[in-house]
Amino acid sequence: MHEWSPESWRGKPIQQDAPYDDVSEVEAAVRRLRELPPLVTSWEVERVKRLVAEAQEGKRFLLQGGDCAETLADCRSPVIADKLKILLQMSLVLIHGARKPVIRMGRFAGQYAKPRSKPTEEKDGVVLPSYFGDLVNRAEFTPAARRADPTALLAGYTHAAMTLNFIRSLSAAGFADLHHPEYWDLTFISREDLPPALRAEYEGMIDRLSAALRFMEALGEQTVDELTRVEFFTSHEGLNLFYESAQTRRVPRRPGWYDLTTHMPWIGERTRALGGAHVEFFRGIANVVGVKVGPSVDPAEIVELCRTLSPSDEPGKLVLITRLGAGQVEAKLPPLVEAVKRAGRRVLWVTDPMHGNGQTLASGLKTRSFDDILLEIERSFDVHEASGTYLGGVHFELTGEDVTECIGGGLTEADLDKNYASLCDPRLNYTQALEMAFRVARRMVRK
Ligand code: PEP
Ligand code: CO
Repeated sequence: MHEWSPESWRGKPIQQDAPYDDVSEVEAAVRRLRELPPLVTSWEVERVKRLVAEAQEGKRFLLQGGDCAETLADCRSPVIADKLKILLQMSLVLIHGARKPVIRMGRFAGQYAKPRSKPTEEKDGVVLPSYFGDLVNRAEFTPAARRADPTALLAGYTHAAMTLNFIRSLSAAGFADLHHPEYWDLTFISREDLPPALRAEYEGMIDRLSAALRFMEALGEQTVDELTRVEFFTSHEGLNLFYESAQTRRVPRRPGWYDLTTHMPWIGERTRALGGAHVEFFRGIANVVGVKVGPSVDPAEIVELCRTLSPSDEPGKLVLITRLGAGQVEAKLPPLVEAVKRAGRRVLWVTDPMHGNGQTLASGLKTRSFDDILLEIERSFDVHEASGTYLGGVHFELTGEDVTECIGGGLTEADLDKNYASLCDPRLNYTQALEMAFRVARRMVRK
């Protein structure tokens, strides 16, 4: 294969390219991004790789979640703190269910670039570029807002940095100390709407977990430290290659190139073409890389993606995130799993039960059903169990806010208008997400 460099993607066909009209402005933003300090460090990236390597061996479980599209406007303390709380609470429920440590990976601090099914949008006869996420343009339907603005690359960077700064501070402080659940448990935020049964289940689980923790500490158990250290890692779709490559660098005393915008970038379903710019870029970096795979992928293609993105089959390197849909997963997943197994490739299998289960209502509103989401997860567990492989993670679009975007788990179609806030795909709200964690944990215990 030809030589890789952080810029070698520029010579490849690119999908979902941002429609910039002024190349010199883009290059100016890229030059500045190259000088700015990295958002994460290579030590952290290597640590995530070790954790993912253990997950590949069945010793850990990955919980990945956050907004479909983060926005600069939502870079606000309650929104960020609530997202951490729901991820933390879900992770505890899953630790309890899976009986193994959970890697907490947010879709945050950089989830600002969105692929779109159409490059333009039409409203009342006016055609404008689609909204490609706050890293590229703005959501309002005006020509000025929809212009692809190269300075948005810098605004995205600064908001990612502010988000990450707050997340790091909260994690380092008592917020995420498992010895002090009063800082982050349900009573911290008033949740009168939370169904009493769900609250009781959660509180009971926390009591059992705290008792187990005290018991292990009394025994002088070494692993307690590891279990009680609450870490959050970041991930986002590595869609805008100007942004990713500008923050990709060598570090002292380590070989390789690190994309230091995030711990684990992933390649989206629409940009994973072999021979395309995104696969070219991501084949050269040292980070753990995720790839979304939808129902159109064929088994030979997925094996080729493994070979290209993880040429030395390095432990912890590759995460395959299937998003096939509840109706298709039983037919489509087994051949993929078998092909990767036959090829002897080391991967972490994760299910994204969101992106294959979208529906558009008569009103034009996009939604997803709680039951379909759960069904895809359960069926994915079934498939992996049948083939002797390990389903090692789940990937959700969720928020800690009381939004009304998905149906089921307490919401009906008539509720969706109450607080539909997503600029992109529908997310699970706080209650739905917690309920989902319990359902997944129950499925894990059943095995
Ligand atoms: C997403 O994760 O928001 C997304 C666009 O997913 P996919 O690439 O799987 O369609
Ligand atoms: Co989405």
